[in-house]
Amino acid sequence: MRYPEEVIEEVRVRNDIVDVISGYVKLQKKGSNYFGLCPFHNEKSPSFSVSPGKQMYYCFGCGAGGNVITFIMEYENYSFSEALKLLADRAGIALPKQEYSREDQEREDLKKTLLEINKLAANYFYYQLKHPQGQTGYEYLKNRQLSDETILRFGLGYANKTSDDLYRYLKSRGYEDQVLRESGLVTIEERGSRDKFWNRVMFPILDVNNRVVGFGGRVMGEGEPKYLNSPETKLFDKSRNLFGLNFARTSREKYILICEGYMDVIAMHQAGFTNAVASLGTAFTSQHAALLKRYTEQVILTYDSDGAGVKAALRAIPILKGVGMSIKVLNMQPYKDPDEFIKNMGADAFRQRIAEAKNSFLFEIDVLKRQFQMEDPEQKTRFYQETARKLLEFPEALERDNYIQAVSREHYIPYEDLRRLVNQLGSRIAPGTPVRADEIAGQEEKKKTARKNKEEGNRQSQRLLLTWLIEKPYLFDKIRGIITAEDFVEPLYHQVAEMVFEEHEKGEVNPAGILNHFINDEEQYREVAALFHASLRESLNNEEQKKAFSETVMKVKKHSLDWASRRAQDINELQRIIKEQAALGSLHISLED
Ligand code: UTP
Ligand code: MN
Repeated sequence: MRYPEEVIEEVRVRNDIVDVISGYVKLQKKGSNYFGLCPFHNEKSPSFSVSPGKQMYYCFGCGAGGNVITFIMEYENYSFSEALKLLADRAGIALPKQEYSREDQEREDLKKTLLEINKLAANYFYYQLKHPQGQTGYEYLKNRQLSDETILRFGLGYANKTSDDLYRYLKSRGYEDQVLRESGLVTIEERGSRDKFWNRVMFPILDVNNRVVGFGGRVMGEGEPKYLNSPETKLFDKSRNLFGLNFARTSREKYILICEGYMDVIAMHQAGFTNAVASLGTAFTSQHAALLKRYTEQVILTYDSDGAGVKAALRAIPILKGVGMSIKVLNMQPYKDPDEFIKNMGADAFRQRIAEAKNSFLFEIDVLKRQFQMEDPEQKTRFYQETARKLLEFPEALERDNYIQAVSREHYIPYEDLRRLVNQLGSRIAPGTPVRADEIAGQEEKKKTARKNKEEGNRQSQRLLLTWLIEKPYLFDKIRGIITAEDFVEPLYHQVAEMVFEEHEKGEVNPAGILNHFINDEEQYREVAALFHASLRESLNNEEQKKAFSETVMKVKKHSLDWASRRAQDINELQRIIKEQAALGSLHISLED
């Protein structure tokens, strides 16, 4: 989909963000901004802000933010073109015919059709459940103590015993075999086409925008497979979808509960824990983690308490750590999963378990301990050594010490002894010392983490500097001759920086307009939006921040020079870079005049 940029920009400019949002949210002026109750999460006091100057909105509570077009996309659940159309109509602008490439057009059309088909199927299943032909399904769900309200909220349904009724229904609505095949809901064969799901209770899977992208179907009672799921389609990518996230993302809690299955999510939501999601039987992926990271910094794992659940938790922990998440693990004993726990113990007991959830590192140590027979001195010693080795995962001394204290307390290991063991091991695997293979692997891991931290630090400096420049145009004068758009080497920031510098040259930086360039890629879009919003939070008022400013400029410049020197093509270029590097030391950047 491609509208010319000028057209998109005109639609945006002709729809004042305060006017538009006022039609949906009651706004009150405070200073130069407007505030109201956030429409994207539940709240009692207003943390949703709209800036007429920037033509952007931002919620300090849930982090939602963007320009007038994305507001309509999120609020109305519209695609970009739908939102653009609404706003164009509103402003009396006639949109030109879309300049789709044929492939784009076809792909968009197919996706749209598949969404329609899924929605029709979900309604069809729900209708069946609520009518006499679906009685067994309805009774099954009732027996599992689901209320009518829950059934409606999750859109649960029933697939008939007849093996081709959904197929016939969809055909009657005018869909061709070709596209029905792509929906994954039917198998099309010469000797007759069949529904994929029959005689099962149905769980629609929604994406974060509340669109049905797939289904899971459960046998009622015993039978194999217990759950049948939609295959991956143009809409449904298992490694990028989390069941329940459409609700969980607007929950009031700071953390998200992660569990294994459909029924666990539904049971938790019904008990009031509307911040639960499931990765649906597939292993937790780094894409899942990245998806969650958009909505929260903290997760609590509520996986099954059996061996498979513990294994799944052990696998998910490093993945979640990888995106910087703070992780706890809930103890479900003596029950198997959240559904059973809540059924037997109730919501209050579950809330109590949430409060007592264990730090994920300490959980890992508990699991490790189970592998050793602690009454045998040799095994006990090995447990201590393994524990010490694991403690070396923390590169930061202070943090490591906090964990040494916690472990020694929980497992009755004298603190000084454990600390000495950790330090001994740490110095033994210093670079150059011959070590065992797994220790080398540990070292590599540590180096990797250190490198990652450094990269993140560099990115952060670029982000911060960019944010400040957007917020306080007078800072451009302070960095003149030192920093240009070229110094932002992170590709995404580089793109943004080029636009920001160019617009500043021309007169004024226009964040909402810049954001339009990224509207087609949700991940990039969010990051850029966050960049612009950050400026609402960070200010440069106190002394500390003034110091931070010059340090940040230095860091960005230094990194950019390092980066350039690694890519230098010839000796002259390299010499020039080295000169600049040397000059850095005597550079003086100050916010004072
Ligand atoms: P569980 O076997 O723990 O099922 O599988 P459950 O969610 O507790 O369901 P109930 O309470 O027995 O009805 C966890 C998840 O793994 C996936 C499903 O997403 C399920 O919710 N799964 C399980 C499958 O996809 N296929 C299966 O055959 C089994
Ligand atoms: Mn269960």
